[in-house]
Formats: sequence, structure tokens, C-alpha cells
Amino acid sequence: MADPIEPNSADDKAAKIAEIQAKMAEAKARREAAAAAPPVPAPAAGAAAAGAPADDKEAKLAELKAKMAAAKAKTAAGTASGAASPAAATASAATATATVAEPSPSDARIAAMRAKVSETRVTASPRPASKPAPSKNDSDVGVWFFGRRSFLQSVGWMSFFGFLTIVILGAVRAMFPRVIYERPPIFKAGFPGDYVPGTVSEKYKDEERVWIIRQTDGSFIALLAICTHLGCTPRWLTSENKFKCPCHGSGFRGNPNWGVNFEGPAPRPLERIAIHLAPDGQIEIDKSKKFLWEKQQWDDPAATLKG
Ligand code: FES
Repeated sequence: MADPIEPNSADDKAAKIAEIQAKMAEAKARREAAAAAPPVPAPAAGAAAAGAPADDKEAKLAELKAKMAAAKAKTAAGTASGAASPAAATASAATATATVAEPSPSDARIAAMRAKVSETRVTASPRPASKPAPSKNDSDVGVWFFGRRSFLQSVGWMSFFGFLTIVILGAVRAMFPRVIYERPPIFKAGFPGDYVPGTVSEKYKDEERVWIIRQTDGSFIALLAICTHLGCTPRWLTSENKFKCPCHGSGFRGNPNWGVNFEGPAPRPLERIAIHLAPDGQIEIDKSKKFLWEKQQWDDPAATLKG
């Protein structure tokens, strides 16, 4: 690929020659201006300084002539180049511009530089405006909530309201105390004729944990089905005539010493409870009244229902 600046035709060569001639004319004009302008006298030269204004005028005049000669040479070079390649014309113009600007910084050059600086400022990307600091009055809730200081304030307030909620809920819950609904201690167990003498009825063992025993003489007693060792529910074994606790093997006698402990870890006999006839003729059991053998309470009339 050929260099676009390198002359490659007769016209280019002519343009180049004209450009060289223009440079030579310009150099010649400079030399003449330098020769015409005497050295600037020192301020202390006294009377010699009086002739300085006239010399300056001549120097400026010579400089103007040199510039005019340079411009004339450039014009001639442009005419000679004619339809020369755009590359050559561009090179010539650049050279001429450089030649004109070379002698001293002119106002045009300063203006061009200022224009270039202005253009650079305009084309440069604008500096982004600084983001305004979030304030408490900011309408963005997220910024307010998750700000550094605001976040700590939010945590504090949430803790306070959480604690307050727990206290209020506790107070409300205390207004409704926990109640355990137990079966009433008194219940009716049917009529005396429903029971066979010398037998143990387990009809109310599961619901009330009570055995109702009709002795051979026709009287009734009620035993609590709670082992006196650790509270398990013993079983009535008809064939062995005893109550046997499945937990640790305690045994309680049957007829005629109902509920007396005789084996195992149970420390005392089973407990008897109050039994009597209700006004309607049914047997009524009251579990709130207990009779303990070790306190000689089994002989209490309330502990036995005569048959
Ligand atoms: S609870 Fe009945 S023997 Fe231990």
C-alpha cells in the first residue's frame, strides 16, 4: 500500500516543488527581516534608545513582507498542484499552516488553541452529579429503613414493640387460667341388687379407678384401684383371690381381708372410700372421702354399706 503523502504523479511532484519554493521564499524573507531589524538596545543605553521605535517599525514591516511572501508562495503551490491528490494537498496545507504559525505565536494560533480546549471540554463526558445524601424526610422508605443509623433505630424500636407485645399477650393469657377438668368425685354405681355377694366388680375400674366389692354377708365396700407403692393400677385375679400390681409385683389380699398388702414393695393396704345409698336407692360412691387401714379408719360406718 502506497504512502498517501508520498508523491506518486507529476502533479504531486510539481506541488512538492512549489511547496519547497514557498519554504525557501519564506526563509529568505526571514533572513531579510532579521538583517533589517537591529538588536534591541538595553534600557540603560540612554540616548541610543531614542531611535528604537523607528527600528521596530522596520522590523515589523519586514516581518509582514515575509508573511505576505509566504502566503503568495502557498497560493502558487496550491495553483500548481491543481488536481493533485487530496493527500498531497492536505500535506501542503499542513506544511503551510505550520510555516505560517512557526515564526511567532499569533493570535490565530492562540484562538485555535482556545477553541480546541473548549472543544475538549465540551466533548468530555460530563461529571456525574453527586448523589444527594439520604435524609429522614426522604420519601424512599427503603433508604430510610436500611440506612446505617436508621437501621439501628429500627432494630431498637422493633425490640421494644416485640417486648411490649409479649408482655401484653402474657397479661391477657393470665386472665384465662389453665383449668383441669376432672370427673366429679361422687358417682352412682347402680342398685345393690346388681352385685353378687362375694364378688369384685371392675365395672368402674377404668373410668373411676374403683372396685366395688359385695362381701359374702351382703355388705358393700369400695377400694381405690391405686397401688400404694407408686400408683399403678393393680389387677384383680379371681383364681388367686388377690390384687396384683403389674409394676413391681405388690400383692393385696382378697376375701376376707380385702386390700391388705402381703407381698411386694407396697408399704400399706389399699385405700377404701365412702359408699352409701342415694335417695333414689342407688349406690353412691364418694372418692373425696378416704379411709386408711393404718389409721384404723376402715371401721368407720361410712366406709361400709350394709347390705
Ligand atoms: S406401683 Fe405397684 S408395686 Fe410398685
